[in-house]
Amino acid sequence: MTILALETSCDETAVAILRGRELLASEVASQTAQHQPYGGVVPEVASRNHLMHAPRILRVATANAGISLHEIDAFAATSGPGLASSLLIGSSIAKGLALGFSKPYLAVNHLEGHLLSPFFLSATGILPVSNNKHGLEAPATDEIVPNISLIVSGGHTLLIEVQSVGHYRLVGRTADDAAGEAFDKVAKMLGLGYPGGPEVERRARHGDPERFDLPRSMIASGDHNFSFSGIKTAVRYLLPRLHAEDTDDVCASFQRAVIDVLVQKTMRAARACGAKCVTISGGVGLNQQLRGELREACENAGLRFLAAAPEICTDNAAMIAFAAALRLESGSSSSVTDEIDPNLAIA
Ligand code: KG4
Ligand code: ZN
Repeated sequence: MTILALETSCDETAVAILRGRELLASEVASQTAQHQPYGGVVPEVASRNHLMHAPRILRVATANAGISLHEIDAFAATSGPGLASSLLIGSSIAKGLALGFSKPYLAVNHLEGHLLSPFFLSATGILPVSNNKHGLEAPATDEIVPNISLIVSGGHTLLIEVQSVGHYRLVGRTADDAAGEAFDKVAKMLGLGYPGGPEVERRARHGDPERFDLPRSMIASGDHNFSFSGIKTAVRYLLPRLHAEDTDDVCASFQRAVIDVLVQKTMRAARACGAKCVTISGGVGLNQQLRGELREACENAGLRFLAAAPEICTDNAAMIAFAAALRLESGSSSSVTDEIDPNLAIA
């Protein structure tokens, strides 16, 4: 079974081709440079760029995979959540291809793509080579479920209890900004450019995380929800008395506070759900400090820990192809009349 998937939910134009569990191609055209001057994603600019890049990325993906579109068994695309005008481009292309080649179409929830990505490993070298050739991590199912999944990206901060593919329960979410959004906004305030996460992490390595006492909002709220707008505001209030040489300390103190909240609340949710495993996915999941501390907390608690491979943390189509493959294997597909849904929920 060979699946071609498109991901255009935000500002990355991505195409992947998956045969069985082997990732034949995974191409991403980033629009970061186009959005950089605005300090965030501009929907109109994003959809124009998707339209411009998609045909080329499709050609590159099929060429790299060494196959023609005639050999594709199903076409998939992200159908939400995301920017409506961006989602429309990828889903329209996938629907057109499915209709043209008389093959099934699969609408994939972007969040399910992230959620399943820690379980996806390829043997092709594009992603880390796994010991088993089947893509799914070696542990038996009863060692990894129930599972608490932390999806932490520029648009989302979610805790989801996973029982099996398709059986998800929303346990916690952010009440305001996503963690990645907070990284981006703080970076913008400090003049560090967009996207902010990688640069904040780089500066934090040289800074003192104890220098500024920033709020750990909702850390003791008793539920599993998050709030990251308070810490952003706290950094804004610091700005008038900051000098350039303080930037590393602000980054370190900010990152320390965000990670404290993410790790403590994820572990609390894992305890409450009797989880055997914790997973992390999404762009903020690239943060080495966060990955390391969550791994350590899981080891101390005797839980398994799986992190999405760095190559598939930020938005990509490989995770969409993988989610589509699991759906198709369970016998489900979508109708080409299914609409995109910018607010699509996962549970
Ligand atoms: O998953 P993603 O591409 O976006 C959404 O689907 O929303 O993640 C992008 C986000 C951005 O907010 C970016 O600043 C953040 O991930 N990010 C990081 C790091 N690398 C990317 N945040 C913290 N530390 C990093 N190393
Ligand atoms: Zn995403």
